[in-house]
Amino acid sequence: MKNDEELLNIAKDASKLNYAPYSNFNVGACVLFKTGNIYKGSNIENASYGLSLCAERNAIASGISNGENCIIKVAIYSPNKKLCFPCGACRQWIKEFSNDNENESVKIILEDENNKIKVFSINELLPYSFKI
Ligand code: THU
Repeated sequence: MKNDEELLNIAKDASKLNYAPYSNFNVGACVLFKTGNIYKGSNIENASYGLSLCAERNAIASGISNGENCIIKVAIYSPNKKLCFPCGACRQWIKEFSNDNENESVKIILEDENNKIKVFSINELLPYSFKI
């Protein structure tokens, strides 16, 4: 099982393989699933701006479409902004594939301004969320 630093490093690598000519804001994400498998993704923009895809959702979609179903951790990195928190839509996506057990809330791994790893939980970032 990869540790937080390794996941963040993979997210950093992923942030270099993006397509963001419109915002020039680069994001990479690395998602660890319960199986121990990891999937990475980067943001992919489009000339029709609203069609742009976030790094987190690309990484999650990659995992789910390869047979994963339960997220344990999500590392997110942007060279443009330290503590690059996931947007609201990505929080809802993360929640969709999280375990509902309060003690096992998905961990969100970020890097702060001092290159220190900061860990949050999805329940902290998206409390009282919608789930069927
Ligand atoms: N972006 C992400 O990849 N993840 C987020 O959680 C927030 C925003 C991307 C979308 C767009 O390509 C760029 O960052 C600027 O919004």
